[in-house]
Amino acid sequence: MKSIPACDAGTEAVRSEAASFLTRYAEETNLQEAALSARMQEAFAEIDVTGTYRHTYEELRHGARMAWRNANRCIGRLFWNRMHVFDEREAETEEDVYHALLRHLAFATNAGEIRPAITLLPQEGRAGRTFRIWNHQLLRYAGYERPEGVVGDPSSVRFTRVCERLGWQGSGSPFDLLPLVIQRGDGRPRLFEIPSSHALEVPLSHPDNDIFGSFPAKWYAVPVISDMVLEIGGVRYTAAPFNGWYMGTEIGARNLADEGRYNLLPLVAANLGLDTSSNITLWKDRALVELNAAVLHSYRRAGVTIVDHHTAAQQFSVFERNEEKAGRDVTGRWSWLVPPLSPATTPVFHRSYEDRIVSPQFLHQETPY
Ligand code: ARG
Repeated sequence: MKSIPACDAGTEAVRSEAASFLTRYAEETNLQEAALSARMQEAFAEIDVTGTYRHTYEELRHGARMAWRNANRCIGRLFWNRMHVFDEREAETEEDVYHALLRHLAFATNAGEIRPAITLLPQEGRAGRTFRIWNHQLLRYAGYERPEGVVGDPSSVRFTRVCERLGWQGSGSPFDLLPLVIQRGDGRPRLFEIPSSHALEVPLSHPDNDIFGSFPAKWYAVPVISDMVLEIGGVRYTAAPFNGWYMGTEIGARNLADEGRYNLLPLVAANLGLDTSSNITLWKDRALVELNAAVLHSYRRAGVTIVDHHTAAQQFSVFERNEEKAGRDVTGRWSWLVPPLSPATTPVFHRSYEDRIVSPQFLHQETPY
C-alpha cells in the first residue's frame, strides 16, 4: 500500500505547478510536443508515488535562471541567462555542503572577474537530507554589541551571537568574516571557517582624499545570498546560494552608509572637512558621493568586478527591451530597483513596475534561529 494518498491537496498543487513549469520550460527551450508530454507523464507518476519529482539538470539550470529573471528586486537581471548552475543534489553530509560552498566561492570569485552562479543542494521532501544554510550571505562581517556601540556590522548582531553560542569566537575587529553554519535536517547546526583563500576582500580608499583616516575600511568581493528558497515548478530548494557581482551603491550607499549599518558618513564628512553643523551644507550628500566614488575606484583598482548604478540602470533598460521582444512582461519592485544614489538620473525612476509574483522564484523563508 502507498503511504501517501495519490491525490491529496498538496500533491495536486505540486502536479499543477510541475505542469505549468514544464510547459514553460518546453516553450522556452523548443522542446517537442511529444517530449513534453512524455516528461509530464513521468513527473506525474513520480509525484503520485513520492509527493514530489526530480528535475533533470537542464530543467534545473533553466529554472534557476528563470528565477533570476523573475527577481523583482534585482536590477542586474540582464545577465539571467548566463548564470552558472552547480548541481550538488547528491550532497549527503554537512562536509559535502561545505566543500560545495567553497567550490562555489572559488568559481564565483574567479580572481576578481566575478561569475554569477548558484549551487543547488537537495530539494525539500526527502527525509533527513534537506539542508539549511543559516548565514544570510556566505561572506558577511560579524557584529558585536559593545558598551560603546556595535563593532562591525549591526545587521549581523543576532547571527553573530548564534555563532558564539555554537562555539565560534571572532577577533572583535569591525570586519571579521563569520563562519558558515550548515544544518542537515533538524540536526544540530555545524560551523565551518572559510579559508581566506576563498574570501576575496577589497581594501577601500578614495582616489584623491583620505576619507577613512585610520578606519580600516574594506568589503568582500562577492555577495552570495544563502538564506532564500528557490522554488521551481512546485519543488523547493531550501539551500540554493546564488551570487552576482556588486553594484557600488549596495556597499557605498547602504552597507557602509546607513545609520543602522556601518554609519560612516559622519567620519567621511569630518575627513573631507565638511561643515556638518547644518543640513543645508548637504554634507551627507557630499560624503555619500565620495564614499561611493571610493568603492568604485577601489574595486576597479583591485580588479574586482563591480557596476556603477548608471551602467546597471542602462543594462536594466536593455533587459526590459529584450523581455518585451521575447513576449514576456517585466515585473519589478520600484522601491528596490531605484538606486539609492541620484535615483532620478536613471530611467528606472521615471517608470513604474508591477510587483507581481512569477514562478520560478526566490522566496524568503523562516529564519532557523
Ligand atoms: N545588497 C546586498 C549586500 O549589500 C547584496 C544583495 C545581492 N546583490 C547583488 N549584487 N547580487 O550585501
